[in-house]
Amino acid sequence: MDAVKETINNALEALHITSASQGSPTKEPTEEQLNELKAKYSKAGQEQVFAFYDKLSTAEKAGLYEQLRNFDPKYINEITERALHPAKAESEESKLEPLPENATSSVLDSKQDDLDKWYNSGLELIAENKVAVVLMAGGQGTRLGSSAPKGCFDIGLPSQKSLFQLQGERIKKAELLAAKKHSKQSVTIPWYVMTSGPTRGPTAKFFEENNFFGLKKENVVIFEQGVLPCISNEGKILLESKSKVAVAPDGNGGLYQALIQSGVVGDMGKRGIKHIHAYCVDNCLVKVADPVFIGFSASKNVDIATKVVRKRNAKESVGLILQKNGKPDVVEYSEIASEDAEAKDSKNADLLKFRAANIVNHYYSYGFLESIPEWAKKLPHHVARKKIPFVNTETGETVKPEKPNGIKLEQFVFDCFPFLTLEKFACMEVKREDEFSPLKNARGTGEDDPDTSKQDIMTQGKKWVQAAGATVVSEDQTSGIEVSPLISYGGEGLDFLKNRTLKAPAVIKSEE
Ligand code: UD1
Repeated sequence: MDAVKETINNALEALHITSASQGSPTKEPTEEQLNELKAKYSKAGQEQVFAFYDKLSTAEKAGLYEQLRNFDPKYINEITERALHPAKAESEESKLEPLPENATSSVLDSKQDDLDKWYNSGLELIAENKVAVVLMAGGQGTRLGSSAPKGCFDIGLPSQKSLFQLQGERIKKAELLAAKKHSKQSVTIPWYVMTSGPTRGPTAKFFEENNFFGLKKENVVIFEQGVLPCISNEGKILLESKSKVAVAPDGNGGLYQALIQSGVVGDMGKRGIKHIHAYCVDNCLVKVADPVFIGFSASKNVDIATKVVRKRNAKESVGLILQKNGKPDVVEYSEIASEDAEAKDSKNADLLKFRAANIVNHYYSYGFLESIPEWAKKLPHHVARKKIPFVNTETGETVKPEKPNGIKLEQFVFDCFPFLTLEKFACMEVKREDEFSPLKNARGTGEDDPDTSKQDIMTQGKKWVQAAGATVVSEDQTSGIEVSPLISYGGEGLDFLKNRTLKAPAVIKSEE
């Protein structure tokens, strides 16, 4: 058994995949160790987690001990208390305003000269191997109704490419564009993929089965974010089974701790990375390592920059990028007051006052990521009320609740924005149809679902080939053209289609 484990670990190492939880302990703690841990949990009023301990097998005892040892119950109580009752003084004084104009640029009204300048400088930084990409893919995608990681999802494109594949191929293409322009033999954009307990195994398997989408596997680093216990409405840590605490990923803000703990920031340092693009897995249009965004952010010399699109309507489930008490911030859709969501622009009543929708495309300077240990503990936790299956510690029964019975604690990735001054923060407005089509809902919802994702890719491809001088014919107006990211990153390089007639739906996957 140990030999098998070692072989697996060696294979993981060779794949450059870090593992926080390799193997499971099989040795029970000593009585002294156990008593010490029990005392810690009792002192915090959380001794119920040991309710079934004495009746467990040796392996189960070892597993539960290990799981509990990794949490500090006093800290869990503190963050639960703070999340449930955030300091009033601060929220009462909060003053929300849109970002000042000088912190925002828009590709919608930027001069072509500026866009070209940003694109070229971004591509140059890529060619110098100074750019890396971080993907947040630790979410469980419960709204989509699929148990596989969201990135594996086939949105129904003619090519059947998954979200991960579209993203991997865009990285490959950005590397090739930079190499070509700067006459380099090869260019590397390392791809750091954050997973969580539930998504790590299937994600790693999917990447291997798909040969890392044509990227070198040593440049794809899969790492894992942390988890936190689920808490009952009464503030008690819940057990998922008699030998296991119910846990959930600690939110996409768990990114920061994970970047440090898994050695990603260290790896970036060794590679000489200076500029980082971080994004969410669910956006099929995401411009991974977008040279324009990298060039824009680097030219502003900021620590964080973020892309926004115009909010669809007051009800859209998007966070809003704004300033709060003079600092850059995001108010999440789950937490915004309806009068703020619905407020109109004082100069134009057709527009919402707060309309800069967060599409979770962030730029970070390497220096900022290096400073994570100085502020990571200050990130607040937010409460998500959920139906959490649990074992009743008095009766031993497993309960599947019908209504929310507890909370999951989550950190939000944007909660570090207010640690910066406005001078160190920039925001770039981009076109929704070019860059944002998130996959949130199950098929048939009609909004942000697999069909809208597919449609947006096909429509974009059609627009690109038409701009390149091709004619598209189809029986159905909505059929479009899928352009492989390996052929075109953002509409460039399609001149070979000039004067050709394409019958939609079609896939452009080579220059043939
Ligand atoms: C997120 C944004 C919201 C934005 C919207 C746009 C946050 C907190 N909220 O909301 O402001 O307008 O996207 O689509 O960023 N993830 C992890 N680990 C976790 C939880 C999530 O890696 O523990 C990842 C997911 O895999 C996904 C991303 O974070 O890639 C966003 O998660 P999701 O829960 O879908 O965010 P939204 O609620 O849609």
